Amino acid sequence: MSDVIAVTSGKGGAGKSTICACLGYALAKQGARTLIIELDFGMRCMDLMLGIDGKIEHDLGDVLKGEIDAYKAAIDVKLATNLSVLCAPSDPYIQIKVKDIEKILDDMRKYFEYILIDTSVGINGPIFDVVANSDLILLVSSIEPTSVRDARMMSDEFYKRGTKKQRLIINKASRKVFDNDGLDDLDMIIDSVGVQLIGVVPEDPAIPMSTGKGIALGSNTDGFAAFSNIARRIKGASMPIAAKV
Ligand SMILES: Nc1ncnc2c1ncn2[C@@H]1O[C@H](COP(=O)(O)OP(=O)(O)OP(=O)(O)O)[C@@H](O)[C@H]1O
Ligand SMILES: [Mg+2]
Repeated sequence: MSDVIAVTSGKGGAGKSTICACLGYALAKQGARTLIIELDFGMRCMDLMLGIDGKIEHDLGDVLKGEIDAYKAAIDVKLATNLSVLCAPSDPYIQIKVKDIEKILDDMRKYFEYILIDTSVGINGPIFDVVANSDLILLVSSIEPTSVRDARMMSDEFYKRGTKKQRLIINKASRKVFDNDGLDDLDMIIDSVGVQLIGVVPEDPAIPMSTGKGIALGSNTDGFAAFSNIARRIKGASMPIAAKV
């Protein structure tokens, strides 16, 4: 049975979709059958990021309407064996119920080791409930103070709901953070958000270059190293958090 991992943030643009695409790629490259489900309705981007633009025959909207089984609607991503995606409905106004999404997640658990959920921001609404009920929440914050503060608001909400497992990803970190004199900055962010750190992703131009073109992230890039480490940590390995890049 798989783990459902929700990727979320308080502030928009923190890097949720990028992290879903690159972490999904890293998990799949390490041999884990991985599915990305895009729950950002009307704002589909995963097809572009994963190089399957124009190849989407069915999406989550069709599954929610009962037109097709979720497993059949998921598309194999050519970038990596083991990676599949179920894209967001193109209709931003589609009405969804938490129980329908959770039924889809439960149905898909038997096929995949990891199910990554990409989300939109927002503390109200059914997607927030789906995130709160997932097995692991990856809360993404950039190093900007506004992003850190909004991440804290989210983590407080999750704690209020009794969510036990949330982990922080600090995204778009500057190179300084990976040197010793930047570790205080990391500590400050972790203390402000109040969530245990699972990884630090550097600001790396190779990342938007790969997601913008739908091509694989080069294995010699700083970004790839960071996502590979987070993937290993999710699988239970003990890895350095802010490995030198
Ligand atoms: N580590 C990184 N290095 C460089 N650029 C990055 C990194 N992470 C994300 N970006 C860039 O930041 C921008 C926002 O990223 P992304 O779309 O993944 O954020 P998001 O949280 O999904 O946004 P939204 O809230 O709109 O869904 C994109 O242009 C993306 O390429
Ligand atoms: Mg997004």
